[in-house]
Amino acid sequence: MYERFFHLKTKPFELVPNPAFIYLSKTHKKAITYLDYGVREKAGFILLTGEVGSGKTTLIRNLVKKMGNNVVLSKVFNTKVDFEQLISMINDDFGLNIKDKNKVRLLKDLYDFLIEQHSKGSHCILIIDEAQNLTPELLEEIRMLSNLETDDSKLLQIILVGQPELKKTLSMPELRQFRQRISVSCHLYPFKRHETGEYIYHRLEVAGNKEAIKFKGHAVDVIHHYSRGIPRLVNIICDFLMLSAFAEEKNEADEHMVFDIVKDLEIDVQHRGIKTFPDNQQENIVCPKCGFKQSAQLSSGQQRAVCLKCGIVFAKFNACCMPWSDGS
Ligand SMILES: Nc1ncnc2c1ncn2[C@@H]1O[C@H](COP(=O)(O)OP(=O)(O)OP(=O)(O)O)[C@@H](O)[C@H]1O
Ligand SMILES: [Mg+2]
Repeated sequence: MYERFFHLKTKPFELVPNPAFIYLSKTHKKAITYLDYGVREKAGFILLTGEVGSGKTTLIRNLVKKMGNNVVLSKVFNTKVDFEQLISMINDDFGLNIKDKNKVRLLKDLYDFLIEQHSKGSHCILIIDEAQNLTPELLEEIRMLSNLETDDSKLLQIILVGQPELKKTLSMPELRQFRQRISVSCHLYPFKRHETGEYIYHRLEVAGNKEAIKFKGHAVDVIHHYSRGIPRLVNIICDFLMLSAFAEEKNEADEHMVFDIVKDLEIDVQHRGIKTFPDNQQENIVCPKCGFKQSAQLSSGQQRAVCLKCGIVFAKFNACCMPWSDGS
């Protein structure tokens, strides 16, 4: 919408995990090094965790892009499933026929496929994103998959990617064996203040014009404060900021504009991005677009929230936005 006005080739702050925009903060650089190492060394399990919107899927897509021809990949993103459904998805992504097959048959097919690939010198990797949704029982079954091996080598390397809840699940006593199999583990931390600034300008540059908009005064400080250095929140704030500058036909933004955006979006540092008020009730709200659940404390006058997952703004009564549901 505003690309032409700012002389940009593309929108700089979209919410898709596009690796073309990757910015390597200290934590992202470290994670990439660990992931590269884990894949090269064929480590049994690799674990990548990080807060909602911290860049896990973007990093994984970047990793996949760099993988050599000898890597055969299966990616699973839907984890609210049972084991049979999970194996079906894994096999399907490996290109195997899954029609009318039960769990035993699916596992046999997978094993045969892995043996065949191994004999051809291929390296099979399974990536499970959104792994925070996996139950301990399912994780235990996934551990069994890593037991598929020949006399001298593992047949399947597994990369688990998820929000911090995944770490909590993995700390359960019944998953002790699982924990012991994790050879490489890394966690993504939010950006530091200087990284938030570099990140913003980096995205503008990749989008075609580093000088599209000038951040004056304490604008970047305020963006950093309210986003807590979480890239997805930085994107949400900056996208609205550019829209607002475009509406005013200017190519600069100051901290007052950021405050206005943050107020409009009801973003607050304490509550994973959603503003809280002292005397109000807690509501569970579910994003009408992507189904992400979050809790918000809403004052009687407050009707809007921003989804921390897909970034849409939604409202309870306001006809201009998508309506939310309470998840019940
Ligand atoms: N290092 C980075 N460089 C460039 N963009 C990034 C980086 N980290 C995150 N982003 C951007 O932030 C947004 C959220 O990133 P992403 O979807 O990868 O987060 P996530 O950790 O997978 O989130 P979730 O917990 O919801 O799965 C995307 O628009 C992505 O492009
Ligand atoms: Mg993700």
